[in-house]
Amino acid sequence: MGKTVMKRCILIASVVGMGIVFSSNIVAAPAIGSLSTLKIDKAKAELGKRLFFDKRLSGDAAIACADCHEPANGYSHPDALSPGYPGNEHFRNSPTLINTAHKKVWMHDGRLGTNLNDVTREMLTEDYIMNMDMRIMQERIKQDPVYVKMFKAAGYGEASNGSVRKAIPEYLKTLTSKNVPFDKGKLSSEAKRGMALFKGKGKCIACHNGPMFTDMLAHNTGVPENFDVFLDPKRHQAFIAYSMFMGIENYMNLKRDPGAYVQTHTADGSDIGKFMTPTLRELKYTAPYMHNGMLKTLADVVAFYSKGGGKDRNKDPRIKPLKLSKGEQRDLVVFLESLSGDPLTSSDYVWKEKYPEEYQAIPNWRKVRN
Ligand code: HEC
Ligand code: HEC
Repeated sequence: MGKTVMKRCILIASVVGMGIVFSSNIVAAPAIGSLSTLKIDKAKAELGKRLFFDKRLSGDAAIACADCHEPANGYSHPDALSPGYPGNEHFRNSPTLINTAHKKVWMHDGRLGTNLNDVTREMLTEDYIMNMDMRIMQERIKQDPVYVKMFKAAGYGEASNGSVRKAIPEYLKTLTSKNVPFDKGKLSSEAKRGMALFKGKGKCIACHNGPMFTDMLAHNTGVPENFDVFLDPKRHQAFIAYSMFMGIENYMNLKRDPGAYVQTHTADGSDIGKFMTPTLRELKYTAPYMHNGMLKTLADVVAFYSKGGGKDRNKDPRIKPLKLSKGEQRDLVVFLESLSGDPLTSSDYVWKEKYPEEYQAIPNWRKVRN
């Protein structure tokens, strides 16, 4: 696909190019720009918000969605590798959920390509994430009078698994970038220089394009393995469970994250180590970076690209040493920072009220009328 785009670019350049100087560095890609506005149902989103911060949605009522997707960290997690359900730890970095409703493919390996309803189900039911039996969840929710009211107000009637999986995605739609300097066209001169590098010499736009700054495809940039995944038994057991489920061969000996290979199982292994191009919005809050948190700061990421990425036989040929000066690297970091808006930590986004610790259990649900 990259090739077709390039060919088309050359064609356009030769047709309309007379009088226009095309730099040899130019990359044809969907334009970067502002995000579209999503239509949100307020009552459903409000219910979704309460569910997102509620620990009772996990098997032993110990963790909520928000424990791995923390508001102050841009709805990602500050540890390189995410926590997991008690007894486990995760083997990947928890990604930001800001603007996730604008995506079409989810997870670092791109294995979920339907909708956020399915992603929510995966998060709730996966053993090493929330380990929730949805039938128990439904009954637990029905015992809380506040939920009874909220499900009704949202037009769902009685609480059900299906409506939980609709309400949470509705809430996720509210997590969208706000007051972003880039969107407002308010860029400092450093940021403007950074943007020119982003589109030109750096060729970042080849993969980080469109309003989300991602082509929604998987590539190999040679990010080094995070060996905590294999050295920490709590992480390794989660990794093994995942690998078995995804049909990875030789998973007991595997000492690397196969990435998008789980989708294709290419015979030559050329998809091993490819990960989805992440969004570049809200990076100011979401450190550390990459699928395994191996790069701590934006300066580290830019330095990584400047030296031509990591070492990997499958590395994308477009990742080449850029030899950016210290000043150019700084400008690029300032540009990346201009893609972050206000923190989404107010009660518009965060459920700040207490959950009832004790309430009258409803003895017979069959008799309850909504
Ligand atoms: C124990 C930690 C943990 C909990 C709890 C958790 N998540 Fe996640 N979430 C993750 C990790 C780690 C990933 C990335 C997994 C991967 O790539 O394999 C992820 C991925 C996602 C994604 C995909 C984002 C993207 O851009 O690809 C969404 C959406 C999401 N989670 C929503 C939720 C919701 C909603 C809940 C609660 C129902 C939840 N998560 C609970 C750790 C967690
Ligand atoms: C060949 C496609 C490609 C090009 C070109 C590219 N990137 Fe990336 N970028 C990716 C992929 C894929 C990842 C995720 C890698 C991973 O998770 O291991 C990534 C990750 C990142 C991240 C980390 C984001 C996060 O949330 O973890 C930043 C920042 C970034 N790139 C910036 C840039 C900049 C700046 C340039 C230009 C100098 C650039 N990229 C060029 C594909 C690309």
